[in-house]
Amino acid sequence: MENKKPILEVRNVKKYFPITGGFIRHNVGDVKAVDGVSFDLYPGETLGIVGESGCGKSTLARAILGLYEGVEGSVKYKGKELVGMDKDERRKLSTDLQMIFQDPYSSLNPRMTAGQIVAEPLSNNGLYKDKEDMREKVINTIEECGLAGYHATRYPHEFSGGQRQRIGIARSLVLNPKIVICDEAVSALDVSIQAQIINLLMNLQDERGLSYIFISHDLSVVEHISTRVGVMYLGNFVEMGSKEKLYENPLHPYTQALLSAAPVADPSAVVERQILEGDLPSPANPPKGCKFHTRCPYAQEKCVKDAPQLLDIGENHSVACHYVNNLKPRTLKSSTNEVTIKE
Ligand SMILES: Nc1ncnc2c1ncn2[C@@H]1O[C@H](COP(=O)(O)OP(=O)(O)O)[C@@H](O)[C@H]1O
Ligand code: SF4
Ligand SMILES: [Mg+2]
Repeated sequence: MENKKPILEVRNVKKYFPITGGFIRHNVGDVKAVDGVSFDLYPGETLGIVGESGCGKSTLARAILGLYEGVEGSVKYKGKELVGMDKDERRKLSTDLQMIFQDPYSSLNPRMTAGQIVAEPLSNNGLYKDKEDMREKVINTIEECGLAGYHATRYPHEFSGGQRQRIGIARSLVLNPKIVICDEAVSALDVSIQAQIINLLMNLQDERGLSYIFISHDLSVVEHISTRVGVMYLGNFVEMGSKEKLYENPLHPYTQALLSAAPVADPSAVVERQILEGDLPSPANPPKGCKFHTRCPYAQEKCVKDAPQLLDIGENHSVACHYVNNLKPRTLKSSTNEVTIKE
């Protein structure tokens, strides 16, 4: 992966939402939804992003797609800077970066047929020669997404949840994007349907050579589809690495706690549970220093003052913790003896 050039380079991206208050409304602070995020996305890979609700995942996705004003930092697509790009130029590139949303119920217009829904981005962007070309593109994409051509004349309420998400995927893919950001794309679906949609996304990735950013609060969903995974906490990545590194040898205390709360595949090995103390602090008033210090069992004085950087500790594994060298691998307790997971 390292010898390939990244398709997307994100550097120190910040998106703050101003909080207004007072009699004469003025800015009284900021919600630091995304607070200095950097990563690369490589062609054909899936970068999973996990973290609790409110940690800034959707804001990061929308900032990358250029859906906000006032984004700081740099987002380069194939070497071209997107932040602050002129609107017309940005519009031309926007077909290359698409998003698939969570809720297939509310994101589809109930008054349009599936065919019209999938055709709309083509007509909005003038990306068809004539009616026949449009029809062909729409039907081909609908079929590629596992629906039948005759479904094109039906309305959203005539479909199941999984089928509606297939229409949502077809609507994004009809523009032939290179990068697709899936934001909780399967979270509203039943577990069995989730697996079908994930398999569809993985097949589409193979056929089209897509790069995915796959966002979910659900660690098991992310594990299945991702090549690499990043863990977010209060607007920053605290750990990032290959899927294997992250799930088998999580080092950041927050990742360890998240994983210990998730069900394990091997029922004979019960992960020592680490309960996180305290509530998730507000991103409007995040703790100083390491934002995790209020809940971290290993916090020291330094953690209260200085914010740790996300540092590469080798083998493409990065961790943001001052005491990364002292952090223990997660322990698994089997019924008879204690096993420490090592590489
Ligand atoms: N448009 C907005 N205005 C003000 N605050 C926002 C806005 N969008 C998101 N936020 C806040 O930013 C933080 C991150 O939200 P979000 O990116 O939606 O998190 P996630 O997708 O991880 O659940 C939350 O505290 C949320 O309330
Ligand atoms: S820097 Fe300190 S508070 Fe933050 S994760 Fe590491 S030990 Fe915990
Ligand atoms: Mg979200």
